[in-house]
Amino acid sequence: MMDASNGLRSFEETHNADIKSFFDSAPPLKDGEDIKRKLEEFLGKKFSSSENGRPCRVVCVTSGGTTVPLEQRCVRYIDNFSSGHRGASSTEYFLKAGYAVIFLYRRGTCQPYCRSLPDDPMLECFDVTDESGITVLPKHEKAVGAAISGNRTAVTGGTLLKLPFTTIFEYLQMLQMIALSSRSLGSNALFYLAAAVSDFYVPWESMAEHKIQSGSGPLDMRLVQVPKMLSVLRKDWAPMAFCISFKLETDIKILLEKAAMALKKYDMHMVVANELLTRKEEVTVVTKSGNITVQRDRTQAGADVEDPLVKFIVEKHSDYISSTS
Ligand code: PMT
Repeated sequence: MMDASNGLRSFEETHNADIKSFFDSAPPLKDGEDIKRKLEEFLGKKFSSSENGRPCRVVCVTSGGTTVPLEQRCVRYIDNFSSGHRGASSTEYFLKAGYAVIFLYRRGTCQPYCRSLPDDPMLECFDVTDESGITVLPKHEKAVGAAISGNRTAVTGGTLLKLPFTTIFEYLQMLQMIALSSRSLGSNALFYLAAAVSDFYVPWESMAEHKIQSGSGPLDMRLVQVPKMLSVLRKDWAPMAFCISFKLETDIKILLEKAAMALKKYDMHMVVANELLTRKEEVTVVTKSGNITVQRDRTQAGADVEDPLVKFIVEKHSDYISSTS
């Protein structure tokens, strides 16, 4: 719709049109029905359960980077550096704090409870015995045991739902699905958006179908901006949920300023600001009432910054729930 006074589209109308065009042109999820069923089943249990006399809290943790395909029958894509460590470790601390977690993660990235395993656990942790059985090598017994039991307790206990994505199209469609299905949780829902989401993409309809040929000289390709979904998540998809986004920069001088801008622009409850090289040591939580620096406990070997970070968030989420009920 045009603004009658000057014939120009307002920023909001343009933004909404960009979001609509993104979803209209995105290839539909291959296993959309299956994801919907899993979500309904998982959240159905949460709506009906009341643990420790209080309604169950559910957090959606997004983790890892999205890819941007360059061809419809994809051979090449643009990727993002994120290892998924932040999302995986935060998931463990949220589970410990009694939350149910929807872990929306990039396929192949770091998984909860598996952070202490070597890169190739199948080949490095196990050995074949004389009787053609499999045994765990003694030096990896503790890590393998913790990974199996931690994961099994959470998944079979119905407190952890893992949903994988690869492309930007999959990620945003799944995030929308999760947000819409968790609406009825009201302020008990929490979004912890640690995924590194691509900023630019090739719209599906303008993407080459087949492998781009290398013989035709330099590649000239137009990437369109991915519409930011944070404002629509806050306003329309899950308006009562507590929303935390992340801001990563490599230049510390602009980090806090950018995080404060995001807090205001997208009406987030908190923005976690982190710098690439120090992201595992400390983060700054930017809120409307001030900034708080959270550091890992350096006196303890292997301590994670996500431990105090999640504790702080849980406290603020509790205050938010009380203020909305
Ligand atoms: O995975 P690790 O290696 O452990 O690293 C963790 C991390 C550094 C990736 C993580 O802590 C982090 O900072 N994630 C956000 C990275 C980032 O740069 O975000 P952004 O500035 O592109 O986006 C800011 C926020 O908007 C993010 O919460 C993102 O989920 C969201 N977003 C981004 C683009 C878009 N089109 N829509 C969005 O909603």
